[in-house]
Amino acid sequence: MTGPGDESRSGAPVAALVVAAGRGERLGPGDPKAFRPVGGVPLLVHAVRALSAAACVRYVVVAAPADALEQTRDLLAGEHAGADLEVVAGGADRPASVRAALGAVPPGLDVVLVHDAARPLAPSSLAEAVAAAVAGGAQAVVPVLPVVDTVKQVDGDLVVATLDRRALRAVQTPQGFRRAVLERAHDEHPAGGAVEVTDDAGMVERLGIDVHVVPGHEEAFKVTRPVDLLLAELVLTSRADA
Ligand code: CTP
Ligand code: MG
Repeated sequence: MTGPGDESRSGAPVAALVVAAGRGERLGPGDPKAFRPVGGVPLLVHAVRALSAAACVRYVVVAAPADALEQTRDLLAGEHAGADLEVVAGGADRPASVRAALGAVPPGLDVVLVHDAARPLAPSSLAEAVAAAVAGGAQAVVPVLPVVDTVKQVDGDLVVATLDRRALRAVQTPQGFRRAVLERAHDEHPAGGAVEVTDDAGMVERLGIDVHVVPGHEEAFKVTRPVDLLLAELVLTSRADA
């Protein structure tokens, strides 16, 4: 008999939260984004398969659209080998969905990954690397890539500054946290603050806690617009050919 906190798989036992309750407005008309297929398989299924395949991940909690809980459970049955699975109703915005999933993590799992279902092709190795950095002592860890475009700050149609690209990084998920840090960040996150916080690490930064970076992965890109689905299809094809 093994429990969620047991050490029979490698490293510290990890819970992975998968937020999948968004509509996918920018993808255009259709099913909620998490259920849209790439390579014939829903984005959410790709994401859950990859996280479950990470040896450290013991428990996966999916925050799904509230009107699609049974559909989500059916879809994921048999797709989470190596980890237990729970499906909960997501919330009105991403932080609310993270909070809902975090509330379902059983005791004994003190490292938590937060992942977007919208990043279906993030490899298991990325989850392992992020979790290992947290297990190694970091409070919060984000995978990052260099920024390839020049980034300018604008005011209306006027450029006011050109940022030094060498100091910028594009941030991906899964992001990793000590569980208590993520819980505190969400407890203290004021609803509708002046600055939009679009990721969990941003909330942790506002607590004054250091957030560390590890190398991200090109295939962990987010499916946001239709062109991203085309790219995802090509990546899957190239994997199949490898
Ligand atoms: N998400 C969520 N709950 C919400 C909103 C977003 O769980 N209320 C999740 C999405 O399902 C997605 C991730 O947060 O996996 C990143 O959000 P985003 O890419 O913005 O997805 P959507 O909100 O679905 O897309 P859009 O903003 O285009 O509607
Ligand atoms: Mg969104």
